[in-house]
Amino acid sequence: MDDKLKIFYELYDRRRSIREYSEDPIEEIVLHRLLEILRRAQSAANCQPWHFIVIKSDDPVREEFNSVFYKESFKSAPVVIAALADPSNSWTRKEDNKNYAWVDVTIALTEMIGAATAEGLGACWIAAVDTDKVKSILGYADGLELVGLITLGYPSEELKRINKERKPLRDIVTYGRTSGIEGEACGKAGPRDEKE
Ligand SMILES: Cc1cc2nc3c(=O)[nH]c(=O)nc-3n(C[C@H](O)[C@H](O)[C@H](O)COP(=O)(O)O)c2cc1C
Repeated sequence: MDDKLKIFYELYDRRRSIREYSEDPIEEIVLHRLLEILRRAQSAANCQPWHFIVIKSDDPVREEFNSVFYKESFKSAPVVIAALADPSNSWTRKEDNKNYAWVDVTIALTEMIGAATAEGLGACWIAAVDTDKVKSILGYADGLELVGLITLGYPSEELKRINKERKPLRDIVTYGRTSGIEGEACGKAGPRDEKE
């Protein structure tokens, strides 16, 4: 594997959810680069059915906004992004009527979190949140749906790989015609590095 490839794969290896942040602010130029990644992200039929609300630590709304966090340390994240899907303006697969707005938003966030990791930043998805409260504080329109909050900041500890449990490949990948795939209750993942 050449060096460029190695850098790419190592990025995803050290990414993990960061919930404790240092006091260092995120430089404007860095935040701008991340927002450009959101803007540039792929979406079904290029509909871009999204809106992203940035709530910085010095925003007048931030103190009130911090009341949505169940975990204290999220309150000190220098930047929070509220990611909104716009299902009225997205692509829908006609065969089964599946709306792709949430998928598109999630892809954009995933790409941004990869870039944030490359920047040395830590990020955490927060889906467990009182959506009505977020909406009433931020004031967005009824048609928009909160997919999640992403906290961003320089991690209080170095970003490095930790072996969090993952299901083994043989449990999640099959090749060719397949039968007998069974779901597995959430939380039953095996050790990440279990030998295949
Ligand atoms: C869609 C989604 C929602 C999540 N919601 C929360 C959340 O509400 N609170 C939280 O602390 N972590 C949340 N997480 C982080 C997951 O717990 C974490 O990604 C998972 O345990 C794997 O750990 P890792 O990200 O460190 O590899 C969420 C992650 C995803 C992808």
